[in-house]
Amino acid sequence: MCFKNKVVLITGASSGIGAATAIKLAKLSAKIAIVGRNKTKLLNVSVKCENLGTKPLVIIADVTKDEDVVRLVNETVTYFGKLDVLLNNAGSVFRGSIFADNVINVFDMMMNTNLRSAVHITNLAAKHLVESKGCIVNVGSIGGRGFFVPENFSYGVSKAGLEYFTKSAALEFSSKGVRVNVVLPGPTITDCLDSSGLDEDGKAEQWRKLGGKTALGKVSEADEIADVIVFLASDKAKSVTGASYVVDNGMLLKGLN
Ligand SMILES: NC(=O)c1ccc[n+]([C@@H]2O[C@H](COP(=O)([O-])OP(=O)(O)OC[C@H]3O[C@@H](n4cnc5c(N)ncnc54)[C@H](OP(=O)(O)O)[C@@H]3O)[C@@H](O)[C@H]2O)c1
Repeated sequence: MCFKNKVVLITGASSGIGAATAIKLAKLSAKIAIVGRNKTKLLNVSVKCENLGTKPLVIIADVTKDEDVVRLVNETVTYFGKLDVLLNNAGSVFRGSIFADNVINVFDMMMNTNLRSAVHITNLAAKHLVESKGCIVNVGSIGGRGFFVPENFSYGVSKAGLEYFTKSAALEFSSKGVRVNVVLPGPTITDCLDSSGLDEDGKAEQWRKLGGKTALGKVSEADEIADVIVFLASDKAKSVTGASYVVDNGMLLKGLN
């Protein structure tokens, strides 16, 4: 696989799956724009990419802010002159019971971060992707397919919506030669538990418990999800569009409860 002269825009590239994908694409000689809010983490990823021979364009932006979304697409296209691949990966998880006073705030945050941002960025990137006959890979979740804990419904709705959006977009973009797919990870060791309040031992225990719920008895590394994303973004997947790639160690297969 070679991404030489391909321009890839990755949201949520400051850690976890997005960072692992950026590093993999740097090894494959892609031109990369990496997006996130945390400057320190983004610069760390940038250095790792640079050490592999690709200096990324670093864009500090919040995907829930319309002005930032406009800027991140414009900056990428202005800097590189085109866009070949869009990876809508930025996302976060917050829980809120339907009985909680603040549930609508949690719901809005989940929808804005995990779904609305992907729709908005796709809309702004569309003309550039049509021009390059490029592709889009969205990062959903098996949380949009099954039920873990009811208080996670806002996250699940946002990810179910992202999967639906992927298929609709795939159909609409197909006549223009642009492919759109979604990867649905199961539990994957990243920074996503950092806001959970758990200490390092607590997080390790949580990953161990989640691993026990999968058919293969393990969780994934971010690198393994990145492998599937890179495949879908590459010409190797030129016949694949509107597909949902479940990468969950068989968690859905086993049943979520
Ligand atoms: N890890 C899992 O078990 C798992 C399972 C299923 C699906 N996923 C999905 O995988 C994707 C990547 O998550 P991860 O697991 O790699 O977690 P992570 O390490 O916490 O990475 C999340 C990324 O999203 C970015 N992000 C979050 N909110 C943002 C905002 N408002 N504006 C800009 N960037 C934002 C973060 O950047 P900043 O903090 O720098 O803004 C970070 O780079 C997410 O869509 C997540 O839902 C993860």
